[in-house]
Amino acid sequence: MCGIVGYIGKKNAVPILMDGLSSLEYRGYDSAGIAAMDKGQLCMSKRAGKLKILAECLKKNPVKGAIGIGHTRWATHGEPNEINSHPHYSCKSDFVIVHNGIIENHHELREKLKKEGHKFRSQTDTEVVVHLIEKLYKGNLLKAVCAAIRQLHGSFALGVISTHHPDMLVAARKDSPLIVGVGKGENYIASDVPAILKYTREVIYLDNNEVAVLTRDKVALYNTKEAPIKKKTAKIKWDSASAEKAGYPHFMIKEINEQPQVLKTILNHRIKGNRVVFEKFNISEAKLKKINNIQIVACGTAYHAGLCGKYILEKLLRLPINVDTSSEFRYRDQIITKGRTLIIVVSQSGETADTLASLREAKKKGAVVASICNVVGSSIARESDGVIYTLAGPEIAVASTKAYTAQLTTFYLLGIYLGRIYGTVSDKATKKLLGELAKVPGLMTQSLKEHKKVKKVADQYIRRYDYRLAEQLMFLGDEIWRFKDPKKALAFAQQCAKKSHSAYGKRFGDFPFLYLGRNVNYPSALEGALKLKEITYISAEGYAAGEMKHGPIALIDEFPLVVCITPQSAVYEKMLSNIKEIRARKGVVLSVATEGDKEIRKKEYSDYVIEIPKIDEFFSPLLVALPLQLLSYYIAVGLKCDVDQPRNLAKSVTVE
Ligand code: F6R
Repeated sequence: MCGIVGYIGKKNAVPILMDGLSSLEYRGYDSAGIAAMDKGQLCMSKRAGKLKILAECLKKNPVKGAIGIGHTRWATHGEPNEINSHPHYSCKSDFVIVHNGIIENHHELREKLKKEGHKFRSQTDTEVVVHLIEKLYKGNLLKAVCAAIRQLHGSFALGVISTHHPDMLVAARKDSPLIVGVGKGENYIASDVPAILKYTREVIYLDNNEVAVLTRDKVALYNTKEAPIKKKTAKIKWDSASAEKAGYPHFMIKEINEQPQVLKTILNHRIKGNRVVFEKFNISEAKLKKINNIQIVACGTAYHAGLCGKYILEKLLRLPINVDTSSEFRYRDQIITKGRTLIIVVSQSGETADTLASLREAKKKGAVVASICNVVGSSIARESDGVIYTLAGPEIAVASTKAYTAQLTTFYLLGIYLGRIYGTVSDKATKKLLGELAKVPGLMTQSLKEHKKVKKVADQYIRRYDYRLAEQLMFLGDEIWRFKDPKKALAFAQQCAKKSHSAYGKRFGDFPFLYLGRNVNYPSALEGALKLKEITYISAEGYAAGEMKHGPIALIDEFPLVVCITPQSAVYEKMLSNIKEIRARKGVVLSVATEGDKEIRKKEYSDYVIEIPKIDEFFSPLLVALPLQLLSYYIAVGLKCDVDQPRNLAKSVTVE
């Protein structure tokens, strides 16, 4: 969470910092700020709210300087107001800092520094760091930063500049991502590659407890004891265009549409003849042969991919497979057998704090750790014994889409790969499975062509509930139906309800969604519900359809929309029975069904139907994901929600 960026060179740093922050806004968007230094004078500008508010402010009151740092915040300590926004100054405003992470011992440090006379301006944990540097500074900025971070507990990626060193930017990291961009006559720091990709492709990935001193012409690296270290630069292969919207209105819809291509890329890279190949997967066959149980660990959408991974691996490997959310796994008394337990951590960003902590915990206990990761060079990728990259390219929208289907695909491939080693997947089976997988990109393209049908369902849903809500607000059913346009009906109802009625504020609160699925599509139900709630703020639950009778059925009346994931499968009839139970209670049903399924279209089953192309049930989660993503997207757009940057969320959860 939070994005930081820094520049030192000959140009004006401010547009470069603002540009970098705009690509990092996915990491947090509660507030933003920059500081730049011109002829030894520090100048700062920061604002609560999104980056565009800061940009407006900079238009009126420009800031300039050939060295600067910037920050976009996801608040942890202290509300997201201007004072708590980064950068933060020292008492004499001669040091300024941006920080991503959490300083766990900030309270005791703050109390101590206060007693020593330091004056704090904000409620943030970050501010202690700049006061600590100020206190420890004896003419050498590197020494002061190193001395300060030796006293810090917790996580940090830091950028520091000072009026005492107008030609120097110091950066440091522990448990929060940070890269150094190496340019010609200019250098950069950033939380993530897209922030600097327009300017350079040469990057250094800082590891924990490493410090970088950047001048215009040089990047020098040290450990926290100030001893110089050497590291190689890596060349970024993808270009900045893949981190841009390319004509789409939102990153989310762009990324949804990229899925067929992402799958093609994965299959092209990973399948050689009748074999799955993971190059540079540093876990030997001998090690893998010793494995007798597998534990999958991840958060959010990646957890849902992991849950589906359990179904996939169980079927292909016939081994006990467990799956857990990282935040639970890391504190459990896990059963790990040294050299026998394979932990598979799944993460798009490769920086999720709980997943990283789980990985470390499992490693400490002797597990073999493999990761399924999207961001190349991320902490999780680097700390795993073996990494399989998902090759989805940068995912910018906060709601994960293409990374999810890339993770699922990787699980299918991993299942085949391990199944060959364990002797549970024969040559013939491999051929059949790979043959089915190879059809998926084409079927995805076919499915995405039908996106207007999903939009229509989304629009119908909004229309229906606009009327319903208007009705509710008016407490006068008939009166409201004289309007031809539901928006007008709603506006009229709102006008009548005025402030005396708070129901409009809870728009859709009374109309939740319930997503039901079985078997491999139970995780699809969870993921469908997560996608909807995170970008539309409509409450949504995902359930195993068989669990409906054990509680959720109490929710059913004519208000909730029940999304039933019912492709042709071994559990199709069971799903139909569930739907009947819902219909018997006046439930409104949207079925996600296989094309050509006439039965499900009957009024006794469905009010709305979205079709997916025919596919083997085992691979159906790959296709089911798409219309569910589109449904959430179009409802969010219809409700004028901030699709790419939903409230309270951030793309990369680097704090616990
Ligand atoms: C939801 C979403 C989150 C992430 C979760 C894990 O759309 O994106 O639930 O899946 O925060 O993030 P990674 O995969 O980066 O570990």
